[in-house]
Amino acid sequence: MSSKRVALVAGASFGIGRAIAERLASDGHRVLALARSQDKLAELEEKATSAGHVVHGICADVADLEATLAAVEAAARDFGEPSIFVHAISSRYRHARLQSVNAEDMRREIDVGLTSAAALSSALLRGMARERFGRIVFLGSSAAAVGLAGSSVYCAIKAGLEGLARGIAVDYADRGITANTIALGMVKTERLDERRHSAGGSEDDLLSRVPQRRLISVDEVAAVTSFLVSDVAQSLTGTVIQADAGLHLVGARIE
Ligand SMILES: NC(=O)c1ccc[n+]([C@@H]2O[C@H](COP(=O)([O-])OP(=O)(O)OC[C@H]3O[C@@H](n4cnc5c(N)ncnc54)[C@H](OP(=O)(O)O)[C@@H]3O)[C@@H](O)[C@H]2O)c1
Repeated sequence: MSSKRVALVAGASFGIGRAIAERLASDGHRVLALARSQDKLAELEEKATSAGHVVHGICADVADLEATLAAVEAAARDFGEPSIFVHAISSRYRHARLQSVNAEDMRREIDVGLTSAAALSSALLRGMARERFGRIVFLGSSAAAVGLAGSSVYCAIKAGLEGLARGIAVDYADRGITANTIALGMVKTERLDERRHSAGGSEDDLLSRVPQRRLISVDEVAAVTSFLVSDVAQSLTGTVIQADAGLHLVGARIE
C-alpha cells in the first residue's frame, strides 16, 4: 500500500502526461497538473472532481521559467509541497536535419524539454529532502539510445534527461529520493500522428519497425509511472526503463 502524496505533473493537459495525471489522481494522490491550455486543464479538473479525485491546474509555459517556478511555488503553498514530480513535456515535433535548425529554435527546444525538467526538479528537491521522500520521473525516449531521423536536438534532450536523473539519483540517494527515466517508444498520441505526417509514411510503416508490432497506450505508460512513484519502488533509482515495445532492440531508422 502506497502513501498518498502531492504530485506535480508537467505536461498534463493532453497525451501521456494527462493519462499520468489521471492515473496518479485515481491512485489517491493530490495532483498539480501543469500546462499552457487553461481550457484543457479546467476540463481535467472537472472530470477529476466528478470522479472524486483531486486535481488542480497550473497554467504556465515552461519556456518562461521564472513565471512557471512562481506559479508552482504559489500552488505548493495552497496545496502542499509535491514529493512526486513527473516531467512529460517536449516541444512540438518538426522533422528536420540539424543543418536546417537555427540556434534560437535549438535553444527553445532544450529550454522546454530539458532545462524545465532540471529547474522544476531543483525547486522541489528541498521539500522532498525535508520529507525524506521524493520521486522524480522523466519521460524520455528510445531515441536517446538509438537515434531518430530528423530529430538530433530531441535525441540530445532525451539523453540529457537520463543523465539528469542519474545525477539527482546520486546526489539525493541518502534522502529517500529516487530519479528515473522512462524511455518510450511509439505511444498512441497526437504527437505520434504529427510525427508520422511530418516525416511521411503510414501507421503500418511505423509498426513494421517495432518488435511487438503495436503502439503503446498512454495507460500503459501511466501504469509504469504509478509503480515508479510508489513506496515499493524505493530501490529503483538512476535507471532507464525501456517501455518501448522492444524498439531499442532494433536500432534507428535511417531516412
Ligand atoms: N508520443 C510518443 O510516441 C512519445 C514517444 C517517446 C517519448 N515521448 C515523450 O513523452 C512526453 C509526452 O509526450 P506526448 O506525446 O504526450 O505529447 P507532448 O506534445 O510532448 O506533450 C504534451 C504536453 O506538454 C504540454 N506542453 C507542451 N509545451 C509546453 C510548454 N512550453 N509549457 C508547458 N506545457 C507544455 C502540453 O500542453 P499545452 O499545449 O496545453 O501546454 C501537453 O500537456 C514527451 O516528453 C515526449 O517527448 C512521447
